[in-house]
Amino acid sequence: MSEKWSHNKEGKIQQMEKTKTEWENLGFTYRKTDKRYIANFKDGKWNEGILTEDHTIVLNECAGVLQYAQTCFEGMKAYTTQDGKIVIFRPELNAQRLEDSAKRIHMAPFPKGRFVDAVIQTVKANVAYVPPYGSGGSLYIRPYLFGTNPVIGVKPAEEFQFRIFTTPVGPYFKGGAKALTLCVSDFDRAAPNGTGNAKLGLNYAMSLHGLVTANENGFDENMYLDSATRTKVEETGGANFIFVTKDNKLVTPKSETILPSITRRSLMLIAKEYLGLEVEEREVYFEEVKDFAECGLCGTAAVISPVGKINDHGNEICFPNSRTGMGPITKKLYDTLTGIQLGRIKAPEGWIKVIE
Ligand code: PLP
Ligand code: COI
Repeated sequence: MSEKWSHNKEGKIQQMEKTKTEWENLGFTYRKTDKRYIANFKDGKWNEGILTEDHTIVLNECAGVLQYAQTCFEGMKAYTTQDGKIVIFRPELNAQRLEDSAKRIHMAPFPKGRFVDAVIQTVKANVAYVPPYGSGGSLYIRPYLFGTNPVIGVKPAEEFQFRIFTTPVGPYFKGGAKALTLCVSDFDRAAPNGTGNAKLGLNYAMSLHGLVTANENGFDENMYLDSATRTKVEETGGANFIFVTKDNKLVTPKSETILPSITRRSLMLIAKEYLGLEVEEREVYFEEVKDFAECGLCGTAAVISPVGKINDHGNEICFPNSRTGMGPITKKLYDTLTGIQLGRIKAPEGWIKVIE
């Protein structure tokens, strides 16, 4: 990628000059951008927080995050809208979820009141990397929090660092809008009363073996079932499920052990209020999955990615309306969600925060 800079008349850095193809061909990979935000928690309080160019972290060898995986994170995106503004989507919900995740593993939460401001500072400092409108790309924002002081006996750290970095991204799954093939996993993602509903690094570490195994067997991702009964649909390693019934109802699994996806919660409202669809958030038995017409994965990274097939130990379930790509209802949901995020469709009150 060519790294040319352009400055407008006031001398401010504008979006980085890249060819259309370069912006359109972004994958979901890390690329270092200019600045990241750092705040530290010590002696019971958070310091002021700064933006820095240093992308490295120096930690004590015995830091809580390194020894006992005491870390949580968020995933958000900044978009360029049709009229050239830079916006973020429902950031207060990420602030709340980061607080919930932090508390679940006894970390000092980063103050919710400061979270949105810190995100805005970081996006502004990297505005040159926000992909332009129409490229299909966005600036992925990764806030995260981790234990920094040495802990050798198993106990919570007392000092923490909160950071935010950004990286320009394209589609999460290679192949963009092509329908995915999943397999029903033999591994569990979350235990009853475990940490599946918090966004903790540990959940993702333990999903890696399942993911690699699925990929080695030719599948894009896993469908995890509830670990207690293995009868109900949970989610994948990085996204919630949506299903569409043959009579166009949106159905999405309700479970205490899945991540409360902000995308999924937004889609439920969009389905009801914008598309006039019936929405059911309820337990979804694996047994009934074969009867759905469309299936998709939803999340910040995944946006809505269509699922064509699910392989259950050799038995294939094929979704008639999303066999090769997005089904018609999923497509309407996708167009409305991205239309709201890109400023083409009026957003519900409070959903879009313009970065000024
Ligand atoms: N489920 C898991 C396990 C995830 O990692 C994510 C990604 O954040 C989601 C669901 C989707 O959540 P959201 O829509 O808030 O990005
Ligand atoms: C996100 O969607 O932001 C996530 O954190 C999921 C991860 C698999 C990239």
